[in-house]
Amino acid sequence: MTNAARHARVNEATVTLRSTGDAVIAEIRDEGCGFELRDSVAEPDGSHVGLVAMRERAALVGGDVTVRTSPGKGTAVRAAVPIMGPEDGGDSERW
Ligand SMILES: Nc1ncnc2c1ncn2[C@@H]1O[C@H](COP(=O)(O)OP(=O)(O)OP(=O)(O)O)[C@@H](O)[C@H]1O
Ligand SMILES: [Mg+2]
Repeated sequence: MTNAARHARVNEATVTLRSTGDAVIAEIRDEGCGFELRDSVAEPDGSHVGLVAMRERAALVGGDVTVRTSPGKGTAVRAAVPIMGPEDGGDSERW
């Protein structure tokens, strides 16, 4: 959502949060300027880490992040995180 507000050059984005039963899926979609996906690689100086960090954090809990975008075509970021209870091996202390 911060990326949409900061980079997309539009003043509207759509946020959808839903559950499939196995996973929670968050999608943030804007109709803004979009970008070349290769531009989203983190810089060696530690800047532009947002998307990379999102992927890493999703992977840590068995989820993933998908980005669909291209210049002039808007951006959709989808994060899927599995729903786990203690009986699934999840660590309830973390939640
Ligand atoms: N919704 C968007 N619309 C247009 N461009 C985007 C969008 N999201 C990301 N970008 C482009 O991808 C780049 C990388 O995004 P990322 O979130 O990884 O880093 P950042 O926002 O630049 O910095 P940080 O998130 O570390 O503060 C951005 O600098 C921007 O150029
Ligand atoms: Mg960012």
